[in-house]
Amino acid sequence: MTRLEDAPYLRGPHRPVDGEHDACELQPSEGELPTWLSGQFVRNSGNPRFAPPGRYHWFDGDGLLHGVELREGRATYRSRFVRTRAYELEEEAGRALWGGLLEPLDPRHPHGPIKDTANTDVIVHNGVVLATWWLSGQPMAIEVPELTTRGPETFGGALRHSMCAHPKVCPRTGELFFFGFDLLRKPYYHFGCVSAEGELRYVQEVDLPRAYVAHDIAISENYVVLLDLALGYDRAALAQGKRKIGFDRSVPARFGIAPRAGGEIRWFEANPCYVYHTINAHEEGDQIVLTACRIEDPVPSELARDSARLDSISLEPYLYRWTFDLSSGAVREEQLDERPTEFPRAADALLTTDLRFAYAPRVAPREDLLFDGLIKYDLRSGAATTFELEQGFLGEVVFVPEPGKGDEDAGVLVTLTSSDEGSELLVLDASDLGVRCRAPLPRRVQPGFHACWAPL
Ligand SMILES: [Fe+2]
Repeated sequence: MTRLEDAPYLRGPHRPVDGEHDACELQPSEGELPTWLSGQFVRNSGNPRFAPPGRYHWFDGDGLLHGVELREGRATYRSRFVRTRAYELEEEAGRALWGGLLEPLDPRHPHGPIKDTANTDVIVHNGVVLATWWLSGQPMAIEVPELTTRGPETFGGALRHSMCAHPKVCPRTGELFFFGFDLLRKPYYHFGCVSAEGELRYVQEVDLPRAYVAHDIAISENYVVLLDLALGYDRAALAQGKRKIGFDRSVPARFGIAPRAGGEIRWFEANPCYVYHTINAHEEGDQIVLTACRIEDPVPSELARDSARLDSISLEPYLYRWTFDLSSGAVREEQLDERPTEFPRAADALLTTDLRFAYAPRVAPREDLLFDGLIKYDLRSGAATTFELEQGFLGEVVFVPEPGKGDEDAGVLVTLTSSDEGSELLVLDASDLGVRCRAPLPRRVQPGFHACWAPL
């Protein structure tokens, strides 16, 4: 068995940090912060509060939020755990009560077989920051700028289904579109919508033939794009209580186009693949265009044979576009770049439109997933510019538009960097990827998962 300290995501830049951190003002080491930049950058990450009782996977770890509050040219860092029910139970017990993704499922666990950590994504809806989980759980409402947990978000008690990471907020209507899945029980998948004011409009259960791990959706002006891709638990292993992730290469990728009000889903088949993250979807007449980072083989067979190595993630994601023709039923697909990139983002305000620019961290050639640069894609011309990080790695960026400026890339990109030695707040000019400001954090933080920009 792999020794815990050898787990790739407990080493180097991924090393867990020592819990929470109180508010601390940052001093820029280069450049300065734009005075118009007002809000809070919030990033979610997996950080075990207690020593894991077995093998550790990158997706394990309690949700730890890192926030940098920006006001009038000043920056304040703080960090708080997401206090899910499972977190509180372990806090009370003073030890970890659940094994991670690589450990056997315990169906007799008194608090349920899987620990919901809300460690994956953060999004702002109806003025509330929601932390969500990749295995589909209970969304948690977070107070900003303090990052304290208000509690589970149930939309007035109406939400009885789970919500997965990567719900989408429509920039035009303020509606929240979400999905969820269950790998063990039917119905395996559902999606739904919450109004801008927080009223649950509907949840539609979808009778999928098999249970798979879904990770993202996309929305266009009139449709929700659902992803049904063949990554899931190995059935034979699951029957023995073991969790082993497998990818079925014989199953076509399926994309479901559903009306935003719910209703009949049109399914389109494409070449087998997995997609962790979409950039956006938009409509061109009767065509729906989806842009995302596509992975041909999410569980390389040499890793699948060696379950001890499943705690590393070896991904080759490439920028990709699918076009689904609602009239003819045809699908067109094309790879847009040959450099591996992931965790892509664009201007949130343009999410449902034919947006031009996307910002995707470049995957470093390593066994664990780290990003050693940032690529700005011009999705219309095919051009790309790259920001090279001199040392360390960067996480997901968020685009913040400069008020009063009309250009799509007039604004800044905000992220945090991580290395063995430390971390920085990094602010880039979105138009040319020039450094606007660097400010060291009081401690190193992990590269983590997803981020949002919360207005204050
Ligand atoms: Fe994700």
